[in-house]
Amino acid sequence: MNSKIIDQNKQGWNKVAHHFNGKDALPSYGPFTQTEEELGLFGDLKNKKVLEIGYGSGHSLRYMADQGVSELWGVDLSESQKKAAEMTLKGLDTHLYCAPMEKDIGLPTNYFDVVFSIYAIGWTTQLQQTFTLIYNYLKPGGQFIFSWDHPLYAHLKMEEGKVYLEGSYQQEDLMTFENFKGEGVPMVVHKRKLATYINTLIQVGFTIEALIESDVPAACDGDADVSDRYYSLYKARKFPTTFIIKASK
Ligand SMILES: C[S@@+](CC[C@H](N)C(=O)[O-])C[C@H]1O[C@@H](n2cnc3c(N)ncnc32)[C@H](O)[C@@H]1O
Repeated sequence: MNSKIIDQNKQGWNKVAHHFNGKDALPSYGPFTQTEEELGLFGDLKNKKVLEIGYGSGHSLRYMADQGVSELWGVDLSESQKKAAEMTLKGLDTHLYCAPMEKDIGLPTNYFDVVFSIYAIGWTTQLQQTFTLIYNYLKPGGQFIFSWDHPLYAHLKMEEGKVYLEGSYQQEDLMTFENFKGEGVPMVVHKRKLATYINTLIQVGFTIEALIESDVPAACDGDADVSDRYYSLYKARKFPTTFIIKASK
């Protein structure tokens, strides 16, 4: 575990948490991404024990509660997010932990029907350790579903309506956001290839059920103006912002 990066990112998330209240939460899988209503990856969630990795403001867990799950568990790095999630989930019986996802904090093993993560997994400093822990938390036959930025999308820039490639998709290194969300806190994320996510899942024992390179949601049916923003409908119509993986133990 890279404690220096984790401590730095924790401070960062404590500051930027308020920008993400209710953002990137189920039924959405991410920006300009198809929804769970469109994709139906989870199936019937009634009486399932679920664990979210990187629960953020708790809105995805709230969605899970609305689907009738029996137990709501979550791990997130940031104390500010934990406070936000406690507000969102007020009145519900929850097990919320403030810890890095890559650390073994003694969560029950062979216990969960579903482990899921919406736009948080890529923050791990140790992908293999994180996937191994998740594999262990799941019951045999349990499902792991997560979404994250499509690793090529980050390299696609726009100029005068044309999309071009910046930097190298080949290089898997650290990327620093010097001023994330304008809050003046540097945050560090590992750049990984799509194959790294898939092969690491296979290495720790998962069976991959589906890989989705998402189209835009049906709700985005209007014209897409040319835009140089990082997430734009214009760009998302040409290339997926998000990939989603469903795997089983
Ligand atoms: C974009 S937010 C996820 C939003 C969330 N899905 C929701 O429903 O609100 C990413 C989350 O990952 C958490 N995070 C970042 N690094 C982490 C780590 N190493 N371990 C656990 N959580 C982490 C952040 O604190 C943040 O809450």
